[in-house]
Amino acid sequence: MADYDVIVIGGGPGGYVCAIRCAQLGMKVACVEGREALGGTCLNVGCIPSKALLHASHMLHEAEHNFATMGLKGKTPSVDWDQMKAYKQSTIDSNTKGIEFLFKKNKVDWIKGWGKITGKGEVTVDGTAHKAKNIVIATGSEPSTLPGVEIDEKIVVSSTGALSLPKVPKKLVVIGAGVIGLEMGSVYARLGSEVTVVEFLDNITPGMDGEVSKSFQKLLKKQGLEFILGAAVQGVEATKSKAKVTYKLKKDDSEHTLDADVVLVATGRRAFTEGLGLEAAGVTTNKRGVVEVDHWKTNVDGIWAIGDVTPGPMLAHKAEDEGMAVAEAIAGQQGHVNYDVIPGVIYTAPEVASVGKTEEALKEEGRAYKVGKFSYMGNARAKAVFEGDGFVKILADKETDRILGVHIIGPAAGELIHEACVAMEFGAAAEDLARTCHAHPTFSEAVREAALACGDGPIHM
Ligand code: FAD
Ligand code: NAI
Repeated sequence: MADYDVIVIGGGPGGYVCAIRCAQLGMKVACVEGREALGGTCLNVGCIPSKALLHASHMLHEAEHNFATMGLKGKTPSVDWDQMKAYKQSTIDSNTKGIEFLFKKNKVDWIKGWGKITGKGEVTVDGTAHKAKNIVIATGSEPSTLPGVEIDEKIVVSSTGALSLPKVPKKLVVIGAGVIGLEMGSVYARLGSEVTVVEFLDNITPGMDGEVSKSFQKLLKKQGLEFILGAAVQGVEATKSKAKVTYKLKKDDSEHTLDADVVLVATGRRAFTEGLGLEAAGVTTNKRGVVEVDHWKTNVDGIWAIGDVTPGPMLAHKAEDEGMAVAEAIAGQQGHVNYDVIPGVIYTAPEVASVGKTEEALKEEGRAYKVGKFSYMGNARAKAVFEGDGFVKILADKETDRILGVHIIGPAAGELIHEACVAMEFGAAAEDLARTCHAHPTFSEAVREAALACGDGPIHM
């Protein structure tokens, strides 16, 4: 008789959500987590701490740039970096403790330590074997680096080091203009660092709708971030207190260097499966070490996998959805994730959010589409709060008007995108959004106006 119905390895958003849902479905469940705190990358060194620093640094930006205009005069706040980090840590702690509370409430056992699959239905933690009918691998991901670039988490840092630097660097070089590079680059630019972002491709945020990406880069440049695009980093030489980044421009092969106090390597993450015993267990991974799955089932009966360790976008909400779906599948239910409607959000100012197809993808497919666009300049609420930059862009099928993709750069983009997600889940047409009454004055009116622009035209533009 198994000790557990399910043992989940990894207590991140994939693993902890899976464990809670398994318990809610009446299964006896344990979650193995080796960190001191539950919540995985997301709560400890990812989504939550980065959003705390984004929030604090955004407040500083508001005080510096907009308070006086609104008649709020007085000394602009100065940065107490240690206190800002303490605020960040308290946010982490309250969230990770919250997961511990939810485990107790749902009677999920937290087995503390690093788990290894040691046999059929067996996970060993610190020398003790635990049995389960099902094992769910939810071990997440870790930062990756480039050849010739060694991360020491002091001068050459991953996102983890960047969240806890001893002081705000004078010069920060970011390698990679993806999500981490731009969020953390924004934080430090607002706190006073000179930030230069070196990107291999000719545009920032690969995969994003091209028009949004261009506009995003312009707005970030206005905030002081410098970009060197089409540049292949050759190596980073670090001393005790400085670093030199060497890169080659792809257009003419010329070599250049940049001096930095800190270098943030943000060139992607890789699946984490170290010490899990996957090979001995016979679990197939692809050549990038990602666990292969079919509806969250690995090739080994009774072993499942979800989240960053599996294919797909490395996003907390994707991991969470898979956590719920795999629990339901184990319980004999259907389990469902709509991979076509997973939003992506970058929490800079302005925020950038998207769901569904980009214009580039639709062109490549040869699909006939129409574009409805609305600038925040026509949105009264956005203008009142100095956030008139940006736009909402809706891509809809030319014939049927069905919404195919929505891309937003502007205030509250990360919240507004869910209106589009719900609409797309229900197979809505742009006209459905356009005919839905939206409260005034809200940012969400910009979504409605973009939907109107897919038909007879927006009112306020
Ligand atoms: P993880 O969160 O990585 O959790 C895996 C857990 O498994 C870890 O705690 C690890 O210690 C544990 N583990 C691994 N191996 C073992 C073992 N053998 N035994 C026991 N425990 C083990 N995503 C978003 O959607 N929104 C954001 O705003 C966002 N911001 C981010 C900011 C940063 C700086 C970073 C780095 C990432 C961010 N992400 C964000 C991505 C997000 O953190 C991940 O997609 C998400 O955490 C993946 O969840 P997971 O459960 O698959 O894995
Ligand atoms: P990323 O994949 O978003 O961006 C990496 C960037 O580095 C790309 O633009 C790539 O072209 C560039 N790059 C790769 N090799 C390079 C080289 N040799 N020289 C210069 N540039 C190079 O990866 P990132 O930013 O590290 O984030 C990792 C994951 O974490 C992402 O998958 C993301 O989904 C997740 N994340 C999500 C957040 C969110 O949802 N808001 C926030 C932060 C991270």
